[in-house]
Amino acid sequence: MGRKFFVGGNWKCNGTTEEVKKIVSTLNDGQVPSQDVVEVVISPPFVFLPLVKSILRPDFHVAAQNCWVKKGGAFTGEVSAEMLVNLDIPWVILGHSERRLILGESNEFVADKVAYALSQGLKVIACVGETLEQRESGSTVDVVAAQTKAIAEKVSNWANVVLAYEPVWAIGTGKVATPAQAQEVHFELRKWLQANVSPDVAATTRIIYGGSVNAANSKELAAKPDVDGFLVGGASLKPEFIDIIKSAE
Ligand code: G3P
Repeated sequence: MGRKFFVGGNWKCNGTTEEVKKIVSTLNDGQVPSQDVVEVVISPPFVFLPLVKSILRPDFHVAAQNCWVKKGGAFTGEVSAEMLVNLDIPWVILGHSERRLILGESNEFVADKVAYALSQGLKVIACVGETLEQRESGSTVDVVAAQTKAIAEKVSNWANVVLAYEPVWAIGTGKVATPAQAQEVHFELRKWLQANVSPDVAATTRIIYGGSVNAANSKELAAKPDVDGFLVGGASLKPEFIDIIKSAE
């Protein structure tokens, strides 16, 4: 069975109630391919999750942008996987580079979060990606392999994992990876999964690209054989997100 195209919209730390309603209304009016062709997941900040879930079209789903590494309790400021499950939030983004780099989340910590979220029944968009310095020093593949390895050491069932390759130098910079650059890393990640997890996991796991994706570049990126979709930041707040979803066709 082929890998269903996946488009995630990561709203990051943006939005007011009014803006959220407006964005959702635009999404709800958009003509997009059916759920058989593309899986769409919208990720607003925690505080807007219930609102977005309640007004979003039923063929789109929602994701949290983070969750705690173990069962909730005395962890001020955190949101647990159990709470997301309780609110019927099916997806969570984990290991985004903004959390790795700004908040100091290590490969091991991210892997623990991924394993715990999966154990609670959540589906996970797990992010990996290199910095500009790492790319320029030629260590891109080593970096993403180490990030993936940490996850693979703690996760045995990959059925509910989508791997997002997001080169840090392409995030929010307007400097998108070329389709060839994205394909090269996605191919290497799939090869890594094949050699270190299993051929079946390599063949079925969606590897999506994130970093300055917009309506003008999504079609060409989507045409690459190992690019199974996108995780979109800035453009997911705009009407062009609908066109990005259409690149699944
Ligand atoms: O998670 C999505 C992301 O980090 C890419 O952001 O704004 O470059 O599309 P952006």
